[in-house]
Amino acid sequence: NAGGSLYDRIGPEALAALVTRFYTLVASDPLLAPIFPQDLSVTAEKQLAFLTGFLGGPPLYHERFGHPRLRARHLPFPITPARARAWLACMQAALRDTPQIGTDDARELYAALSRVAVHMVNTDGVAS
Ligand code: HEM
Repeated sequence: NAGGSLYDRIGPEALAALVTRFYTLVASDPLLAPIFPQDLSVTAEKQLAFLTGFLGGPPLYHERFGHPRLRARHLPFPITPARARAWLACMQAALRDTPQIGTDDARELYAALSRVAVHMVNTDGVAS
């Protein structure tokens, strides 16, 4: 389990644990909770499918839901720079809370998600 993709190194169980922990933290985040649905089970399922492919595993999200069009899918939600930071902070905390994921893999995963997160910002949050 040493070489290959980040997905190969992390494995499905640890990735599922990470996603579960992440949405527990999102649900109690004052900036994020209001824009997410009350029931996060479907969101978590889609995120797990997405991350599986994103990290080099089987393309589960594409198979079930088609092209993710992530930026377009996020447009209905006001994503400010502060919300992007909150999202990444929840991810960083979730990684720390998932000891099955080693430090180097955690760092690499976090860096990859940081690069995507900046593109989800779609408002500066200042009312015009
Ligand atoms: C869905 C917020 C970043 C991947 C969602 C939803 C919200 C949201 C509100 C809709 C939840 C639902 O209705 O089920 C945010 C915020 C972000 C962020 C505030 C901060 C930057 C990201 C990033 C990724 C991502 C970086 C990928 C690496 C997804 C996926 C879905 C999703 C795969 C499910 C799409 C679908 O409905 O099929 N996000 N997101 N998000 N997000 Fe994000």
